[in-house]
Amino acid sequence: MIVLGLESSCDETACAVVADGRRVLSSVVASQNELHEEYGGVVPEIASRAHVERLTPVLRLALDRAGVRLDQIEAIAVGHRPGLIGSLLVGVAAGKALAWSLGVPLVGVDHVHAHLYAGLLELDGAVGDTPSGPTAGAGGADDQVETFDDRTRALLPALGLVVSGGHTSIYAIGARDGTFLDMQRLGATIDDAIGEAFDKAGAILGLGFPGGPEVDRLARQAGANDRAAELPISRLSPTSLDFSFSGLKTSLLYAARGGQGGTDQSGHKASPLNDERRRDLAASFQRAAVAAVVLKLGRAFDALAERGVKARSLIGGGGVTANSRLRAELASLATRHNLRLVIPPMSLCVDNAAMIAGLGTLMLSAGVRDGLDLSPVPTTAC
Ligand code: KG4
Ligand code: ZN
Repeated sequence: MIVLGLESSCDETACAVVADGRRVLSSVVASQNELHEEYGGVVPEIASRAHVERLTPVLRLALDRAGVRLDQIEAIAVGHRPGLIGSLLVGVAAGKALAWSLGVPLVGVDHVHAHLYAGLLELDGAVGDTPSGPTAGAGGADDQVETFDDRTRALLPALGLVVSGGHTSIYAIGARDGTFLDMQRLGATIDDAIGEAFDKAGAILGLGFPGGPEVDRLARQAGANDRAAELPISRLSPTSLDFSFSGLKTSLLYAARGGQGGTDQSGHKASPLNDERRRDLAASFQRAAVAAVVLKLGRAFDALAERGVKARSLIGGGGVTANSRLRAELASLATRHNLRLVIPPMSLCVDNAAMIAGLGTLMLSAGVRDGLDLSPVPTTAC
């Protein structure tokens, strides 16, 4: 089945053509970073206008690259939740118009759930990679698995982690019915998303937008001291699987301001905010942010085990999975808990429409359909 996916939930306009829910025939993403850079964050009105302008050329390019004509598209999958309402509206309207005019089924897909599906997609013949190969942690019989369905089943039940500019959530996948459509959110951020926190950290340190990759780049520099500032690792209550990044962000602000003649949180006069201090603060911030994620994943693994569910894999998604420290720490967590680690290639970690088409295909094959009354919803399903 050839499915066209549409994605416009935030500031990326994306279209993709995916065959049989797994083979990515094309995936085109038009980013809007340059439009939002001067504001230091996504401006919703600018984003929705840019989606309107970009959607048709992006769609044409996706069809061209896939070598597929519109009349060969058998269904439309559109990301309809969660996201910026004006942005979602553009993709949903386009999806409905295409489904109606082509006379093919339509399905609305949850963007966060789709991030978790991205690791199952095959891009140029390759499947999700990881920092240490496709099966970090486990191995054995699973390595013999060949078919897509078998490979998917072999991953479940799974722990899912979505870390992006808009979301920070942990999921149990397939813990109740053993299918990939069985997604249960175990925890989520109660304030900032981790990517948003990285971006704000970048702004505090005077780096470019988006700040996440910049913070990562500085933190990786030789000599970076990730203990230069003791920034808090958010734990919340002892059993909480939720996240909070606002305290970490404020602590970084104090540490950085201290360097401009003020004092840090403990009242000490801090070092000046020169290149070296920026690098050390970036590394300290990254250490604390990643530690919070790893801590909550460990708790989630234990919470599932208490329910009698032994997770077999850890499936990651979202732009922040590009983070070098997070990748390394997820690999060691996977090894400790004997989990297969699945992280999509970078082009599928960030917002894209292939993940929407992929999960949409699975939903369609399970009989899920939406009508022309499909509406955008700003919040996630669960
Ligand atoms: O998934 P994504 O493309 O869009 C959303 O759905 O939000 O994620 C974008 C986020 C941005 O906040 C960006 O700063 C962050 O991912 N990001 C990173 C890195 N690369 C991208 N954060 C930390 N380290 C990175 N290397
Ligand atoms: Zn996303």
